Amino acid sequence: MIKVKFSTRSIHVGEEPDIVNGTGDVVREIHLSTTFARKDPLEPTRGYEYTRTGNPTRQALEEKIASLEGGKHGLAFSSGLSAETVLFLSLLSPGDHVIASEDLYGGTERLLRTLVSRIGITYEMRDLSDASSLGSIPPNTKMVYFETPSNPLLRIIDIAEVSRIAKEHGSISVVDNTFASPYFQNPLEMGADVVVHSMTKYINGHSDSLGGALVTSNDDLYEGLKFNQNAIGAVMSPFDSYLTMRGLKTLSVRMDKHRENAEKLVRFLQGHEKIGTVYYPGLESHRNHAIASRQMRGYGGMISFTIDTDNAGIRNFASSTRYFALAESLGGVESLMEIPSLMTHAGIPREIRKKTGISDNLVRISVGIEDYDDLQEDLDHALGKV
Ligand SMILES: Cc1ncc(COP(=O)(O)O)c(C=O)c1O
Repeated sequence: MIKVKFSTRSIHVGEEPDIVNGTGDVVREIHLSTTFARKDPLEPTRGYEYTRTGNPTRQALEEKIASLEGGKHGLAFSSGLSAETVLFLSLLSPGDHVIASEDLYGGTERLLRTLVSRIGITYEMRDLSDASSLGSIPPNTKMVYFETPSNPLLRIIDIAEVSRIAKEHGSISVVDNTFASPYFQNPLEMGADVVVHSMTKYINGHSDSLGGALVTSNDDLYEGLKFNQNAIGAVMSPFDSYLTMRGLKTLSVRMDKHRENAEKLVRFLQGHEKIGTVYYPGLESHRNHAIASRQMRGYGGMISFTIDTDNAGIRNFASSTRYFALAESLGGVESLMEIPSLMTHAGIPREIRKKTGISDNLVRISVGIEDYDDLQEDLDHALGKV
């Protein structure tokens, strides 16, 4: 059978028009009803009982995201962190250990530190961009959890190798695929057991809805996750499911433009006298470039770079752009910029930030899909204020 291609799936999966029993809508309706009436107490109508347990709009999105990740099952949540909460609480028990990648999204580290560890689950962070860091693994390790590309240094982790080592030790491997999106990378096809998304970012793509997803092809893992999606109740609302599905239909065209603009900006930044280091997995000088080229179909729309200046210079730069909004988050059509040491990573002690390479003069940008020339001029103008 010919595998239907990515953009076709992003538009059609979960939204096939029903011209036999329905009205033939070409987009999935927003089913706002919280409960579903039935004729027979033992037979829910088309399987639906109560929206927390299952909702047709959310289910359409769940089918779509599963398809795009090449997985069998998808689950949609109210945010990326609620998806992670269900993941950790479903698949781990007191006494289990987690190995996580080093420059993990701060909210994930906070969740592990403040909630998950309270129920007797331990964790440690390692630089998994060097797979030999998994040379010794505590016997109670049940999960290896990582992001690639990472935030904010865009380090790349070898998904196939880390998943293989995890499996050898009886551990589940989980990849947060938020930065790459399923358009550029499919971890399940490289051996990972579960994919996590903050759908708030590229999947939705318009900065107007929070959302999270878990995707897996493992039936047993899915059953546990699905049970706790309902038990914990952090589900995505029908309206947010609709918005996210609407955004997802243009993922491929958006990602192509994010990448095109980012690649051009990388060249511009590299040639600018005030720029120090540019971090982008597409650069041959990037320390994990070979792995990125092997496992990604594109290097994405995120760039980090240092400016040769002091704190005042960084603040001048950050407040001098017109199109790059100074804001946390990423993955929307509009360009965003943030200073990790002052914003997303400010909660991490300076010494630890320094050790992991998050210097005070580091800038992270989420390159939008505006016209390239305007973005270059915007950064050039702001650099002139440094
Ligand atoms: C890589 C990554 N994973 C997870 C999350 C958490 O997602 P949410 O903000 O949707 O809860 C974020 C949020 O910034 C993120 O950047």
